[in-house]
Amino acid sequence: MERTLIIFKPDCVAKKVEGEVLDRFLKNGFNLIACKMSRLNMDILKRHYCDHIEKPFFPPLADFMQSGNVIVAVLERENAIAKAREMLGPTDSSKAPKGTIRGDFGTDMRVNVCHASDSAESAEREISNFFSKEEIFG
Ligand code: CMP
Repeated sequence: MERTLIIFKPDCVAKKVEGEVLDRFLKNGFNLIACKMSRLNMDILKRHYCDHIEKPFFPPLADFMQSGNVIVAVLERENAIAKAREMLGPTDSSKAPKGTIRGDFGTDMRVNVCHASDSAESAEREISNFFSKEEIFG
């Protein structure tokens, strides 16, 4: 079993599609083992996006991620990291095929419904940034 951190981004919550997106994950064999609603601040975003802080897209990304409530979750299944990213589709929603989560609900590169961890190392770091051990029910 593998764990991945999923953030249901402000656009997902504003569109009220977080239930439908979570349902897709659950129907694809993921177990929900941790979940909370949050309003992200710069401190947690700098830790979460530590690899992107110097990139030109980081300031508008950080603004967007603070623009509304998010839901942060840990999902578990075999091959969870690759499977979640396959279900989301490419980062740029405008290039994501229909049937993928971003293809069906996303807008563009930034407004793209969900974040999902991109490696086992990132997943471990990201999960511990948002959840204590006691908050994970795996
Ligand atoms: P996410 O999975 O949250 O991880 C990093 C985020 O940065 C990514 O989704 C996009 O929302 C955003 N991102 C990555 N590359 C770009 C880019 N070239 N321009 C704008 N935003 C980007």
